[in-house]
Amino acid sequence: MNATKKLDVVGICGSLRRGSLNRKALRAAEELMPPSMTMQAVEIGDLPMYNFDLHQAGFPAPVTRLCERIKAADAVLIATPEHNGSMPAALKNVIDWMSRFKPPPFVNMPCAVLSASPGPLGGGRVQYDLRRSMSFVQALIMLQPEVFIAYAPTKFDENGRFTDEVGRQILAQQMTAFDEWIRRIRSAFPAPA
Ligand code: FNR
Repeated sequence: MNATKKLDVVGICGSLRRGSLNRKALRAAEELMPPSMTMQAVEIGDLPMYNFDLHQAGFPAPVTRLCERIKAADAVLIATPEHNGSMPAALKNVIDWMSRFKPPPFVNMPCAVLSASPGPLGGGRVQYDLRRSMSFVQALIMLQPEVFIAYAPTKFDENGRFTDEVGRQILAQQMTAFDEWIRRIRSAFPAPA
């Protein structure tokens, strides 16, 4: 990969709700990315639940659209809430559809993950379940730094800006590390033409 290439990152929010804390966290990540990266958030709420009958009849248009967008990207950044100690169904549904697409868009895809929660763990459990499923589809998730935004409702102002100074520093560090991770992975596994 050209060392000066501006990286195209797809942002996925695991929450479907408009006022999502994780959507705000994704926007904060975009704001704190080095200028060598750009992010475009995509919606996942229009994907039907995975069903082999639907799959057999042909991939639904929203699935194909998302797969093609991810395939064209340099990397994927996921910000997700924790639902009952694991990932929300809508996010797992994305992984399930992607895993059936040919060629599967997540194979060798550099990824990073963060989570926000009103609770004290900031989504401490969802990230490990997400890493497990993503490794199953051969995505290459960056291991460190980890970002957990705990007590999240207190950390965004009325305009949705992430106001926690220490949190902003850690998120900025994660985005810088992500830039390096993407370039390393893409040098080893160039995206298919
Ligand atoms: C939650 N929530 C939650 N929080 C958490 O830290 N651990 C958990 O296991 C769960 N489980 C859970 C299940 C379900 C069905 C809901 C709706 C919520 C709370 C959750 O973190 C909170 O609603 C967040 O605000 C959701 O993220 P967004 O939508 O703000 O991004």
